[in-house]
Amino acid sequence: MIHNDLLLRTLRGEETERTPVWMMRQAGRYLPEYMVLRGKYGFFERCQTPELACQITLQPVDIIGVDAAILFSDILVVPQAMGLEVQLIESKGPFLPDPIKTLNDLKRVRVPDVDETLGYVFDAIKMIKQELNGRVPLIGFAGSPWTLLCYMVQGKGSKTFDEAKAFCYTQPELAHQLLQMITDTTIVYLTAQVKAGADTIQLFDSWGGLLGPDDFETFSLQYMRQIITALKDIVPTILFAKGAWHSLDAMAATGAQGLGIDWCIRPEMARQFAGKNITLQGNFDPAKLLSPIPVIQKEVKAMLDAFGPGRHIANLGHGILPNVPVDHARAFVDSVKNYRHTK
Ligand code: CP3
Repeated sequence: MIHNDLLLRTLRGEETERTPVWMMRQAGRYLPEYMVLRGKYGFFERCQTPELACQITLQPVDIIGVDAAILFSDILVVPQAMGLEVQLIESKGPFLPDPIKTLNDLKRVRVPDVDETLGYVFDAIKMIKQELNGRVPLIGFAGSPWTLLCYMVQGKGSKTFDEAKAFCYTQPELAHQLLQMITDTTIVYLTAQVKAGADTIQLFDSWGGLLGPDDFETFSLQYMRQIITALKDIVPTILFAKGAWHSLDAMAATGAQGLGIDWCIRPEMARQFAGKNITLQGNFDPAKLLSPIPVIQKEVKAMLDAFGPGRHIANLGHGILPNVPVDHARAFVDSVKNYRHTK
């Protein structure tokens, strides 16, 4: 049994006593406790060691008091399991030395046995569930096929992912083959996360907003739809396609219970596009956590008023920045927890 199940009840559309809150990337570099472990172990070592992943996952629950834990891992463990080398370079981000550019490159990629390649994730989930002991739900996650293709083809982070887009536009058959392989892997991977104990699943389409509406359907949404369809009867799902507000109606129609939105769309407008029967999650500008605490408090209240009561999970519109002071993160969470909608 989960004692604080506000998040799960909100996803189901039930009335709750207050709005639940968590933060994307809540287990990360703004926490001094995280930095201690970061100084001792490499990034993928932290992901692949269940004891470390468990310890890091619990940090924001204990220190900040969020209403959900999110598994400490990364979306790039899936390309790794599919046979690509992935490095994380200090202060530069992800680097894949041998990205996919041609049919020959695609031959190096496989749909893996997830127990063999990602078993450490399921072990971490089991350990986290035990440690949480029902305090709050655990969110499992994966990257969307399009967002993973971006890294697998571009080989590194980018503002435009122009090489990944060129790959899709000039070699669409290869792109669709790769997207389908990622989709098939992700369905098995996320189903196993649920079996291990994840209470809800979020799909991160961080780069969905780089595509126009038609290309978003072709290269991103049709694959996310397959994943949501495969999961929706076993677990509530949250779809977060950053910047893809033009397709909120189509995303709501996938059967996901939650939709993440960023700060570039008004909550009222997102509600209009998404319809009444889905929970919205977001949408505080992460950089606003650098404002003085009284400003954060005021802006949180404005955000909650704009979403209105029910079917809202408070969150940032993207990941928390490493330079946010811990007491500002706590002020964000506390402001949500102290707020009550007038009935
Ligand atoms: O949210 C959480 O607290 C859970 C853990 C989590 C991480 N990455 C840990 C992490 C989650 C959910 C992710 C998802 C992820 N990873 C996304 C989708 C969400 C988003 O932010 O758009 C993406 C695109 C990645 C790929 C990735 N991993 C990048 C671009 C980077 C480097 C940039 C950065 O923010 O540092 C990472 C590294 C990473 N993943 C860190 C953490 C805590 C920082 C690692 C470190 O230096 O300690």
